[in-house]
Amino acid sequence: RRRIAVLTSGGDSPGMNATVRAVVRACLAAGVEIVGFQKGYTGLIDRLYETLTTRSVSNVLQRGGTFLQSARCKQMMEEAGQRLAADNLKGLGVEGLVVIGGDGSLRGAHALQRQGIRVIGIPASIDNDIPFTDMSLGADTALNNIIHAVDCLKDTASSHDRTFVVETMGRNCGYLAVMSAIASGAEYALIPEAPYDIDDICKNLRRRYQEGRSNSIIMVAEGAGKAQQIADQIKDKIGFETRVMILGHYQRGGSPTSFDRTLAARFGVAAVEALLAGDGGKMVGLSYSSIQLTDIEEVLAKGRRGIDPVIVKLAATLGV
Ligand code: F6P
Repeated sequence: RRRIAVLTSGGDSPGMNATVRAVVRACLAAGVEIVGFQKGYTGLIDRLYETLTTRSVSNVLQRGGTFLQSARCKQMMEEAGQRLAADNLKGLGVEGLVVIGGDGSLRGAHALQRQGIRVIGIPASIDNDIPFTDMSLGADTALNNIIHAVDCLKDTASSHDRTFVVETMGRNCGYLAVMSAIASGAEYALIPEAPYDIDDICKNLRRRYQEGRSNSIIMVAEGAGKAQQIADQIKDKIGFETRVMILGHYQRGGSPTSFDRTLAARFGVAAVEALLAGDGGKMVGLSYSSIQLTDIEEVLAKGRRGIDPVIVKLAATLGV
């Protein structure tokens, strides 16, 4: 009987469970056995796996996190670990693997492909920093988590004439900070991709206050600065009362949005179809509402997906 495998790897993201469910259902519909490895590539190396059935994926669609669990696996960065992982898959008679994760996970997928395993990658990262897909799985849910938090924050900020500095995730990518600033009506989005001048920001905050605004929200991507430091600088320079909210891993949890659930369904089914058609070494992606396949090698060569200049312009027009 034909058999394929699936794992979730790297930082988790909402929608991973829905994707595994889609992969399992697509396999079973095609009469193919599906094996789930636990804890990402660690499970591949340590042979932690279970055969998945419809029962295994019942009632998981709406849950954040990943029931298969995830890990950032150091052994997989070395040739010996990669060979062991590939040998384990071959030993189990697995003909192809679906890897759900971010850029580090795609590097592992590429390494396995070189070891003779057919792999299809599914981009999952709240950072939305993977090229050749308009959206990565989980980014939409993370954005919704952020704007819910900022909406709450604005109520209390207005009651006290306060400036809040809100730190979002995104080590190297300002996507969450910019998009959440647009969606929540924040005044600033400080991002690693663009320099900012704290004196300018202070000048603007003072002007806004003089115009009668009762709150200011500054979004800062973790890769662009520390929220507490920025808040302290503002307080020292213009004497404004500042508060800080670091959203941290809250952003990565919770029930996936309908967008992420349907994206999970499309990505999961497309990945299985590609493997069953004999394809490998590719990543599925969303491009102008269609699912496309791109060589993982090309994805890795492209590096991180930058912020769309159209979005930066949009933010500027709206006064972010
Ligand atoms: O890549 C996803 C991400 O959530 C980043 O935004 C963040 O910098 C990082 O993972 C946090 O990693 P960890 O979960 O290991 O603390």
